[in-house]
Amino acid sequence: MKYGQCLKNYLRKKYQLQTNMINTITCGDCFELMDKLEDNSINLIITSPPYFNCRVYGNETVGREIHPKEYVENFLTYTEKLKRVLAKDGSFYLNIGDVYFGTKGFSRNTGKYKRKTDEHYKEHKIAKQDGKWLQHKQLLMIPERVAIGMQEQGWILRNKLIWEKSNPIPVHSADRRYPVYEHIFHFVKSRKYYFDLPLAKKLGNHRDVIRTSVHAFGEHQASFPLSLIKPLIETTSKVDDVILDPFMGSGTTAIACIELNRKYIGFEINPEYCYLSNVKIKTFRENLIKTKSE
Ligand SMILES: C[S@@+](CC[C@H](N)C(=O)[O-])C[C@H]1O[C@@H](n2cnc3c(N)ncnc32)[C@H](O)[C@@H]1O
Repeated sequence: MKYGQCLKNYLRKKYQLQTNMINTITCGDCFELMDKLEDNSINLIITSPPYFNCRVYGNETVGREIHPKEYVENFLTYTEKLKRVLAKDGSFYLNIGDVYFGTKGFSRNTGKYKRKTDEHYKEHKIAKQDGKWLQHKQLLMIPERVAIGMQEQGWILRNKLIWEKSNPIPVHSADRRYPVYEHIFHFVKSRKYYFDLPLAKKLGNHRDVIRTSVHAFGEHQASFPLSLIKPLIETTSKVDDVILDPFMGSGTTAIACIELNRKYIGFEINPEYCYLSNVKIKTFRENLIKTKSE
């Protein structure tokens, strides 16, 4: 076969793969699945990966590193891949939380906030204290370290959004203030990118602090709220654009995309979450059709 024909066949197969992924949640490791996406083909990426040493999702490939430095390095291999698939005028919203080092390094939902899947990852070993960065009670500054690493990869940081939670999980620490926010970094690949500031103003979403509440989404422990991501999607992508969430969890991004008439591509490694989110999406679509026909 001639080289030209070979290339054509190869590209057709590749295109086909990506087309098949549209409006589905593919169950698998996003690190591998991202290789099936074409260069510059995604208009917006919005995601929240597992945080360092925080929650147990099952077979996650990020978050269980021994040393926080390894977490940052590992996660940066994902952002490198994401950069290849993002369109030149696209954006990447990265929601990432910080943790305190020591005593298993994290706060946990307790009492009425406890969810079925909220359990300690007991066998997780973390690095020993080093008297410097790694000291008990130390806030690790992981989001900032990831963001700096991404700048080194060539990403341009446009905003460091603060997601202020109006109903944060109560913490019981007597010698520090209560943490009530998480970071959402807005990264782009090039200086010219799509962003609708007038719409952001209309939606009251033009400031770099976003206050909204946290809701549990079914069985998933760490879903971000629709009220947080919908205005981000609306202002930073157009109708019919393709939105990628490589750590789809309970399917929040997919639901937001359906509501806003965007296409989505979702990856999720935990089969139980894949199943739950697909059920949720199906029910959501059925209700949507019902409401429209009434
Ligand atoms: C913080 S949660 C995402 C929550 C999501 N934003 C939502 O609203 O439900 C992170 C998710 O990433 C998944 N995950 C971890 N490693 C993964 C990988 N390599 N590929 C795909 N998903 C992964 C976990 O199973 C978990 O559901």
